[in-house]
Amino acid sequence: MKCEIAKNAKKGENLLVFFTEEGWKKEKGKLKKELDSDFSGKAKEVAVLYGVGGFRRIILSGLGKKKKLDLESFRKAANSFAVKAKKMKLKKVSVDASKGHSLSGEGIENAILEGIMLGQYSFLKYKQKEAKEEVKIGSVKFLSSPGGQKLKKRLENTIKIMQNTMIARDLVNSSSDEVTSLEFEKISKSISKKCGIKASVMNENEIKKKGLGLIAAVNRGSNLPARLIFLEHSGGKKGDPLIAVVGKGISFDSGGYNLKPSGHIEQMRMDMAGAATVLGVMKSLAELKVKKNVIGVMAITENMIDANAYKPGDVFKAYDGTTVEIKNTDAEGRLILADSVAYTVKNKKPDFIFDTATLTGSCITCLGEMAAGVISNDEKKAAELQKFSHMPEIFERVWVLPSYDEAGESLKSEIADLKNLGWKGKAGTITAGLFIGKFVKNTPWIHIDIAGTGMNDGKRRDYIPEGGTGFGVKLLTEFIKESSFKKMKRKNR
Ligand code: BES
Ligand code: ZN
Ligand code: ZN
Repeated sequence: MKCEIAKNAKKGENLLVFFTEEGWKKEKGKLKKELDSDFSGKAKEVAVLYGVGGFRRIILSGLGKKKKLDLESFRKAANSFAVKAKKMKLKKVSVDASKGHSLSGEGIENAILEGIMLGQYSFLKYKQKEAKEEVKIGSVKFLSSPGGQKLKKRLENTIKIMQNTMIARDLVNSSSDEVTSLEFEKISKSISKKCGIKASVMNENEIKKKGLGLIAAVNRGSNLPARLIFLEHSGGKKGDPLIAVVGKGISFDSGGYNLKPSGHIEQMRMDMAGAATVLGVMKSLAELKVKKNVIGVMAITENMIDANAYKPGDVFKAYDGTTVEIKNTDAEGRLILADSVAYTVKNKKPDFIFDTATLTGSCITCLGEMAAGVISNDEKKAAELQKFSHMPEIFERVWVLPSYDEAGESLKSEIADLKNLGWKGKAGTITAGLFIGKFVKNTPWIHIDIAGTGMNDGKRRDYIPEGGTGFGVKLLTEFIKESSFKKMKRKNR
């Protein structure tokens, strides 16, 4: 995607303009009768006028009622345009965002760009004919916007974050046979080379030798080796706080011997969405040259059935020495994340940990696809993230759930230190999150359950088509960039 800023549009271009219902009413009065159309400015409405004012086309996109107008209205209206533009096979558009509505302030152009880029996304990797015929907008020109260079920089950042969001979407949507641990390793190494960040990979033998017994246990049923992948972005000064972002990368979740039934197993190639988010975040932080020290950690394996697979009732030892009774082989995400955070805490000594995972079906029951569920040991930071995530500039929403002590206690096992299941069928998102929390020690930590938000399981919702959403790439990149993190007080450091 190319983006430029110019004072005026030229003759023969396609011009995109946005109107609220009230804004259109005013404008309509001024127009010649011949230009009358059925357009009324309602949300999702798009109309095309031909041969007006020397333009090839003028495209009108509805923002809805003035009362409800915010940046999300622009994202959605830009998406409605994007869908129509694809049908018309438009490659270029000029945008005049300065009239037709009463919203002011920064961020309108960014929201429009986001709506166009995410709205034009489609997953055509396996649709050979459509892939060949697809035409997308490759260039957007914004008109008469003040603040030239600063705006340009902001729009370029948006382009990068959106491209990385779409990389995450592609990874989630692709066949599990392709997006394996080895593929994650390959992509990580290539991102490392391209973006100047450090990649290191722990292979299967090292995982076993170093005692990451929970990752090894989940991996036992798979023909593919497990990987623990690290991407390090050192954008800050030496000695600045280190932030870790850990992602669940189950390349396929069959459920193991607690096999998932038909109707539930089919989407489970998406169970690596957390790791895909981490990739997208690390690439974005590097490309935006964010001045923070951040380490991305991705734990990748399948959860499969095999004569050698782990079984319900077995006990395994975690990296930190905790013994864990397996009550359900389908609760595998918390196991690989437990070892990942324990290893990261001990060896990388982060001052803050985020983890992101398609962890529980209960999270979908509770919050649908509207918001991700958060569990944290840092109430203040979690509240800050929740507020940040609801800002119209961001709008990838998270909701903080309570970390009550009883929920943590429900993870005590009769025969081992812990079990991988809390109360059956109750508060599943909370107990799963708190399981991971047992392994972060006293490091401040936020867990983000993206089971609902990471994949759109139904019909297209504006700029979120069916399938992988790339949820969290923008949220975490921007939050890490904007929020301030403190150094942890440690003895013998
Ligand atoms: N990957 C699933 C969670 C999931 C379910 C993500 C549906 C997206 C859509 C996870 O590994 C899982 O199976 N969780 C179980 C936990 C249960 C056995 C305690 C669940 O949520 O049912
Ligand atoms: Zn599972
Ligand atoms: Zn899973």
